[in-house]
Amino acid sequence: MASSSSIAVPHHVAIVMDGNGRWATKRFLPRVAGHKQGVDSLSRCVQACIDRGIQVLTVFAFSSENWNRPVDEVSGLMELLAMSLSREVPRLKANGVRLHFVGNRLQLSDKVQAGLRQAELSTADNQRLVFNVCFNYGGRWDIAQAAQMLVSTGQAITEMSLDRAMALAHVPDPDLLIRTGGELRISNFLLWQAAYSELHFSDKLWPDFDEAALDEAIAVFRTRERRFGKTSAQLDGSKGVFAASSKTQKTKAA
Ligand code: IPE
Ligand code: IPE
Ligand code: MG
Repeated sequence: MASSSSIAVPHHVAIVMDGNGRWATKRFLPRVAGHKQGVDSLSRCVQACIDRGIQVLTVFAFSSENWNRPVDEVSGLMELLAMSLSREVPRLKANGVRLHFVGNRLQLSDKVQAGLRQAELSTADNQRLVFNVCFNYGGRWDIAQAAQMLVSTGQAITEMSLDRAMALAHVPDPDLLIRTGGELRISNFLLWQAAYSELHFSDKLWPDFDEAALDEAIAVFRTRERRFGKTSAQLDGSKGVFAASSKTQKTKAA
């Protein structure tokens, strides 16, 4: 097994997995068929991240706003989540993946909530890859729930206290944020945590996003100079691109 520390890859990759619907429509299939294909693509992506020594993968699977889609698509996505849990979790468990579900669970059915808890519990000892699945997640929800938690426990609202109360407090901020499907927007993903993420937009629809596309995103990331507000001249040339994020420097560890 290759040593991840010797290969310059982003520590934390976040992905807006967009384009499932268009992938299906192009093939005259129902949109849910695109979402199913999207799960297969995600499964390959998880393996590709492990193979490349990426430590944290965070994906956007269902946004706070996706409830506004047609009822049959929403129920199809809920069923797909339940189905994917039973199909994928044993493999993830065997592959050393630690699962976290991030988002407002209270709006999900009791059965799905129990499934999420069980998946998290059964992978809790794994250490190869932290895999955050953002489901019923919105960056605005995350900031609001963190602030609410601090207020209700009488804590001061500071950047650091908010940071610790956010749903991704268990990992450093994403180094690389990829969006597939060609749209150039964030769509309420990781609004707080992506402050200094490098952004990469791919025209590939999510079901078509393969290892080569991931490698291309990583290669582009490698060319970026991460300055975190400093000047180019202040950076140590060799460390500039891969320097840990500002949050990592504040002692966060995955
Ligand atoms: C992303 O693919 C998956 C979800 C939002 C659940 P889309 O379903 O948004 O696919 P397009 O953008 O319509 O092609
Ligand atoms: C963002 O994609 C949400 C997910 C990928 C889960 P959308 O397809 O919902 O985003 P918009 O509506 O095009 O901004
Ligand atoms: Mg979309």
